[in-house]
Amino acid sequence: MLQDKDRMFTNLYGYHSWSLKDAMKRGAWDNTKALIEKGRDWICEEVKSSGLRGRGGAGFPTGLKWSFMPKESDGRPSYLVVNADESEPGTCKDREIMRNDPHILIEGCLLASVGMGAHACYIYIRGEFVYEAQILEAAIAEAYEAGLVGKNACKSGYDFDIYLHRGAGAYICGEETALIESLEGKKGQPRLKPPFPAMSGLYGCPTTVNNVESIASAPAILRRGADWFKGFGRENNHGTKLFCVSGHVNKPCNVEEAMSIPLKELLEKHCGGVRGGWDNLLAVIPGGSSVPLITKDVCDTVLMDYDDLKENGTGLGTAAVIVMDKSTDIVAAIARLSYFYKHESCGQCTPCREGTGWMWRMMQRMVVGKATVEEIDMLWEVTKQIEGKTICALGDAAAWPIQGLIRNFRPELERRILEARKNAA
Ligand code: NAI
Ligand code: SF4
Repeated sequence: MLQDKDRMFTNLYGYHSWSLKDAMKRGAWDNTKALIEKGRDWICEEVKSSGLRGRGGAGFPTGLKWSFMPKESDGRPSYLVVNADESEPGTCKDREIMRNDPHILIEGCLLASVGMGAHACYIYIRGEFVYEAQILEAAIAEAYEAGLVGKNACKSGYDFDIYLHRGAGAYICGEETALIESLEGKKGQPRLKPPFPAMSGLYGCPTTVNNVESIASAPAILRRGADWFKGFGRENNHGTKLFCVSGHVNKPCNVEEAMSIPLKELLEKHCGGVRGGWDNLLAVIPGGSSVPLITKDVCDTVLMDYDDLKENGTGLGTAAVIVMDKSTDIVAAIARLSYFYKHESCGQCTPCREGTGWMWRMMQRMVVGKATVEEIDMLWEVTKQIEGKTICALGDAAAWPIQGLIRNFRPELERRILEARKNAA
């Protein structure tokens, strides 16, 4: 289990004040000037060698992403954009950082911006996070007042401005290019990639979009060193990580743990175990609603990291662990998720716009058994017509939970159909 001294998020539960004065007592803004003076290349290399992978869900190496930002200016400014549009069902970790420890995020924004040669940062915060937006605004004002950001930030000679922008409650605006469109004042619809934002992002300028947790991890990595961070987790899966555990556990919680912790250990040590005991476990969605579920036999041994979850047919995603015990109507649960994706599709590409509606309607019939056994194959086929054929990842995210259901719970789908037929006879 992670020791308290190794935690980066020391005020995750809000036991202390988020204010600058208290954040400094916890180590924030401690000689940030010296870190800035080590220079852009040092910052970027240190984050690269720490092995930090994007905490927003995709797990792309953070330092590598920063290194894509142009070294030579062609007259265009570079931007850091922080994705604080946390909306993935089950995910509630960035919210806690912004609510309880905003200064480590703001300090991370400055250090990351130095690491990629940006002098301006936009934090795009989910519209529903009204309270968190108020706290961030106040914390940013404190940082300006103390000379930590703004002209000659931390007396380092580096000019840096930071802006908070509130979204309007669309899930798709968490997709980085839809977020950029929205920030530009347009309808939030994803762009085709490439070009990736590092080439052409906000206002057509070089931009890096990073998740809140990724950026908030940077100060601790730079202060304690890449080797400290690499000391946690397995090769290619390093560091400490916030896990959000919800559903049928005795104590749902957010917790910072070492990457690669076994799922069973995570649930038993921090969440009081599965309701009714481990044998009462039916399935777990390990990384927010966009990844397929895994059944108990996989949960017995799987490690909570990018690679082990991938080998087991799912993903770490946002590390939002949704636990379902045997009382769960698993078909209804996945049908509810398919409604969510239908509702949130931006409608820009046909397989997603039409397919999410198809999947939801078929799933509704599966819930009550008013389908044929052949339709299970048809539903599978519809998911395959969407997967990999859309502009952004929402299409895949809508298809994968249903694929996970069919792969693991086909007998349950068939049982409902046969039972409904028997009852109608
Ligand atoms: P992605 O794999 O397309 O991109 C990940 C990041 O790496 C992006 O910043 C992208 O620009 C960069 N990148 C990837 N390949 C690159 C290349 N060849 N050159 C330069 N940069 C490159 O994944 P995406 O669509 O950004 O994220 C999908 C994930 O987001 C899902 O797996 C899901 O877990 C997660 N998600 C998280 C939500 C949240 O609330 N945190 C909401 C919805 C989804
Ligand atoms: Fe929009 Fe869906 Fe296409 Fe993404 S996959 S661009 S959400 S229609």
